[in-house]
Amino acid sequence: MSDERSHGQESGTSSREHQPSKGKVLGITIAAALGGLLFGFDTSVINGAVDSIQKTFDLGSAAIGFTVAITLIGCAIGAWFAGQLADAWGRKIVMLIAAVLFIASSIGSGLAFADWELMSWRFIGGLAIGIASVIAPAYIGEVAPARLRGALSSLQQLAITLGIFLALLSDAALAGSKGDAGRELWFGVEAWRWMLLVGVIPAVVYGILSLTIPESPQYLVRKGRLDDALRVVKDVTGAANPQQRLDEIKDSLEIEKKSSYRDLRGKALGLQPILWIGIGMAAFQQLVGINAIFYYSTTLWKSVGFSPSDSFVTSVITSVINVVLTFVAIFFVDRVGRKALLLWGSGGMFVGLVLAAISFSQAHGSGANITLPQPWGVIALIGANLFVVFFAATWGPVMWVVLGEIFPNRIRGLGLGIAAAFNWIFNFLVTLLFPVMSEAVGLGFVYAGFAFFAILSFWFVFALLPEVKGLELEDKTKLTHVRREKAVAG
Ligand code: BGC
Repeated sequence: MSDERSHGQESGTSSREHQPSKGKVLGITIAAALGGLLFGFDTSVINGAVDSIQKTFDLGSAAIGFTVAITLIGCAIGAWFAGQLADAWGRKIVMLIAAVLFIASSIGSGLAFADWELMSWRFIGGLAIGIASVIAPAYIGEVAPARLRGALSSLQQLAITLGIFLALLSDAALAGSKGDAGRELWFGVEAWRWMLLVGVIPAVVYGILSLTIPESPQYLVRKGRLDDALRVVKDVTGAANPQQRLDEIKDSLEIEKKSSYRDLRGKALGLQPILWIGIGMAAFQQLVGINAIFYYSTTLWKSVGFSPSDSFVTSVITSVINVVLTFVAIFFVDRVGRKALLLWGSGGMFVGLVLAAISFSQAHGSGANITLPQPWGVIALIGANLFVVFFAATWGPVMWVVLGEIFPNRIRGLGLGIAAAFNWIFNFLVTLLFPVMSEAVGLGFVYAGFAFFAILSFWFVFALLPEVKGLELEDKTKLTHVRREKAVAG
């Protein structure tokens, strides 16, 4: 890990030392954000392979459902521990571990000979995705200059949405014009296996890049490597007064003490309020139903007259909306702030979901065979896409930005990991319950439920979320907040 040293030496004259190189900051941000690409790719790539997997291993609907969902359980566990490991071993090493797990899971699941083996590799892939989902916001939050932190952190979401889009394209290309994932391709290996195997490519790039980026100053300070930390602060974060910034980091970490679960204790139902806020943000991002919309988009478009064979085009449209609208967040997040964007997002998602809920209450049929009389079909489509537009421009990226920066240094690893784990747990629950609930109470009620969570998320952000736009991570206001908590707890 001599790279921090060489970065310091490269920075040259003292007048340049305080000027971070924009290219360098962007480069290391992209390296960390690449974990997002794998997050998006590896969670979505199964979509194109699922029917062939079911046939190959002769799986019933529960078994195939579990094969798909087990990744999300891995994600929750990976996220939970990632933060603690990142505090103990460093952000870089943990990124490298994730890369190795990504590679192993892609090869293992692509070549699996039995369903239990496939499930095991998908679980391991989940661990990697969970880890990547925590490391990117933690690392980017720590190295980015405060005034650019929101935009740079949003690159993670851009990478997630690109990953989802690439998985869709790659699956389609490998399935060929007849859409047959069971056909034999190179070396007599079926297309669905290649779909999973190609995940190796971004995973290798991620692993190589993780070796080239500097360690975060917060981690270096935690380990007492103050000279290295100062070099990274000077070279990358662009702090106006690097020494003072370093002192603040030292202060905030109180390095003589190790952070532990005890630090999370507080007066709000036994935990620090900031942890509840992180968990709440993570939960709401899933409870508004984004993954149900992605999962159900084919049926949605079919219900308004598109044929199932058009489903590729329609999924591409939703996916492209998801990618493009992320730029809105990148542009606005540091200008208008996190809270304002999130509030707009909650409002917009609510309107879209209410439109969809009203339309679906007019549906005929059930399950995948619903039809919507006009004009409700068109209104449902507008509502659902409006929802994706607002999610992609606000809650999609900004939730991850917020998780990367609301926790004080001392508990960032722990807090971020736990909050992200809840994001995956709620993702799992929504994915699992959506088809069951739609069958039981109808899509109208389910969308009304999502709309209810959208409006609740408005209240949550308005009443509880602190604005941290432009503040350094070790800003005194956050510190006093924690100190007060510790005084009360202790
Ligand atoms: C969410 C994922 C979701 C994706 C959609 C992410 O921020 O955490 O659950 O699938 O956005 O773009």
